[in-house]
Parts: sequence; structure tokens; C-alpha cells
Amino acid sequence: MENEVLEVIYTRRSVRSFTGQAIPRESLLKILKAGMAAPSARNIQPWAFVAVTERGLLDSLCERLPYAKMLDKAGAAVIVCGVPGKDEVYGGKYQDENRIGGKYWVMDSSAAAENILLACHAMGLGAVWTAAYPYENRMAAVRDIIGVPEDVMPLAVIPVGVPKDKGKVTDKFKEDNIRWERW
Ligand SMILES: Cc1cc2nc3c(=O)[nH]c(=O)nc-3n(C[C@H](O)[C@H](O)[C@H](O)COP(=O)(O)O)c2cc1C
Repeated sequence: MENEVLEVIYTRRSVRSFTGQAIPRESLLKILKAGMAAPSARNIQPWAFVAVTERGLLDSLCERLPYAKMLDKAGAAVIVCGVPGKDEVYGGKYQDENRIGGKYWVMDSSAAAENILLACHAMGLGAVWTAAYPYENRMAAVRDIIGVPEDVMPLAVIPVGVPKDKGKVTDKFKEDNIRWERW
């Protein structure tokens, strides 16, 4: 189990080339469950997900999102959204004046997005995080096409598909990124 999980984590890579095969709803549900298993500050889970499988919608997203062109052959897309309102419900009680900024919904939804990428990889599917947030025009495109309301923030559009190629895994471990005990 430990080895299997580590193997999935170590070998996940962004996949941008898909066969065009459809992704069944059961697979998408497993993937979404993985997203919802992510940690979140105070366990507020300030996220929402839109699973998109309609070809017309995938094509419209592809057309409007400059760095998500792999959507043309994806079988589905998962749009990971943050819901700041859910975060702020507890904002008053837990307000910390020392906070330098940053929003929990961004961190929490990012954790969910990574879980989704890992779940896809574990299931033999390919996926890639494409940014909506923090680009106003990309977020607006997602809102227009998918109908995401103004108080919900589209964070990432994750095309999901059957990988076309095997893909190359390189080891990203860098000793230089580590300090022991002191900086
Ligand atoms: C916040 C974020 C935004 C990203 N946006 C895009 C994007 O818009 N389009 C894209 O093709 N890849 C995008 N990526 C994927 C990165 O390019 C990729 O993770 C990085 O090159 C490392 O490769 P790997 O995922 O295969 O390890 C994004 C990744 C992150 C974490």
C-alpha cells in the first residue's frame, strides 16, 4: 500500500495528449471523491466541482482557454472551483490579524486539484492542471460557458482522458531544495 501510493505520487505527470475516448460517470465520481478527500482549513471544504463530458462544452472551453488546447481530445474535464462564501462563514470567528494574505479557498481547492490529478493517474487516466484562476479572462470564459455563478471561483480546468502515449517520467527530486534542521 505504502509503495503503491508513493509510486502513484512519484510517477504522476501532466498528460496533454489523449485518445478522445469518453470517460464514464463512475470514473468521474471516483475522481471527484478523491478531490473531496483533500485536507481543508478547519475542514470547511470550500470547493465545488463541475464534471463536463459534453463535446460541445469541451470544445467551447478549448476555444476560449489558450493553455487548455488538449481539451479537444479529452474525454472529460473537471472544473475545480473555490467557494469563498463557505470559507468566510467562519472568517469572523477565526480571523487572524497576522495573516499576510492568501485565501484558504485557494489552498484548499488546490489540494483538491492535486488529489484529482493523482486519482486520475492511479486509474490509468491522464490529466493536467490548466489555470483559470488567477486570470480574469479565463475565469470569465469558464463562467460564460459553464454558468458558474459570480460568487464561485473557477480555479482549475482539468482535462481528463485516456493517455495517447506512455509518457516519460523524470525524477524531480532535487537535493538542493532541502535543508536539514536550519536554513
Ligand atoms: C497552478 C498551475 C497552473 C498550471 N497551468 C497550466 C496550464 O494552463 N496549461 C498547461 O498545459 N499546464 C499547466 N500546468 C501544468 C504544469 O505545466 C506542470 O505541472 C509542470 O510543467 C510540471 O510538470 P508535471 O505536472 O508533468 O510534473 C499548471 C500547473 C499548476 C500547478
